[in-house]
Amino acid sequence: AFTQRVFSGIQPSGDLHLGNYLGAIRRFVPLQDQYDCLYCVVDMHAITVWQEPNDLRRATREVAAAYIAAGVDPNKAIVFNQSQVIEHAELAWVFNCIARIGWMYRMTQFKDKAGKNSENVSLGLLAYPSLMAADILLYKATHVPVGDDQKQHLELTRDIAQKFNNDYAASIAEQGLDAEYFPITEPMIAGPATRIMSLRDGTKKMSKSDPSDQSRISLLDDADGIAKKIKRATTDPEALPSEVEGLKGRAEADNLVGIYAALSDKTKAEVLKEFGGQGWGVFKPALADLAVATLGPVSSEMKRLVSDPATIDGILRDGADRARALAETTMAEVRKIVGF
Ligand code: ADP
Ligand code: NA
Repeated sequence: AFTQRVFSGIQPSGDLHLGNYLGAIRRFVPLQDQYDCLYCVVDMHAITVWQEPNDLRRATREVAAAYIAAGVDPNKAIVFNQSQVIEHAELAWVFNCIARIGWMYRMTQFKDKAGKNSENVSLGLLAYPSLMAADILLYKATHVPVGDDQKQHLELTRDIAQKFNNDYAASIAEQGLDAEYFPITEPMIAGPATRIMSLRDGTKKMSKSDPSDQSRISLLDDADGIAKKIKRATTDPEALPSEVEGLKGRAEADNLVGIYAALSDKTKAEVLKEFGGQGWGVFKPALADLAVATLGPVSSEMKRLVSDPATIDGILRDGADRARALAETTMAEVRKIVGF
């Protein structure tokens, strides 16, 4: 029986956006009262593509500030920075020797990020899912709340756990440990905001790593900026449907209704009950008001927190101490299992 434990992380690799907020950060908050939670700033993942060191330091504090501004309580959940708990790297190495190269080449995120240049990206970019498995399994986390884009990586985490448990079955038994040494972690991917799309092009994911996308709503945008981006969002000319089925084949409409639903903790059906038959001239201002009202307080608290880096650094240090205590227990066992 594993402790019901949640792990999730965000890369400090650019401006946090509405997709990160709705797909991940906002969902962290209610979980902290039901589970043992670890919320990590995954800076070792960020450097799989080049990061300016000072930008990385700033973005690391920004992600931690976003967690706290959104309502994560560092007394309830462990908030920490991946690189401060070196066991993440150590377990990732063991997993690099468990996972198969072919598993990594099959990852759609790797294919997207590497593009046609797949021989000239960092080795870390290819091994990224192995480090992610280490992040999760170091704490034997049973649940991982993430957006839909991480689904395939989570499946790989499960494959790695399974293969480790199998390959080392005899040694695990010799050490007197449970045969299911690592848990088979469950993804938590649910709700109307598992994949927020770009407001410019409803077929592309809203992402930190697309600098050309000016339509992205950043958590640090002011009220005016948020309202403008929503009013400029690409849509079709038709009115909103009254039923969810009416959103089929209308990616942009589906996306905006999903954002409204997630921001108001409603279902898309409930939103369409309210707005079905209305045009964008009615819906967009309502969505802009809702987004400003919801993101405004998060944004101002985030700005206040980043203006006081010593406090953030203290929270991260304390979180790392608590995370390390758990991580050291797992690594001590893993070293024996492996034969070190
Ligand atoms: P990004 O893809 O923006 O670089 P990360 O890879 O750091 O962000 O992911 C951080 C979290 O945000 C993950 O749980 C991821 O699934 C979620 N996420 C990222 N983009 C979106 C999106 N467009 N919609 C919903 N969730 C998202
Ligand atoms: Na992502």
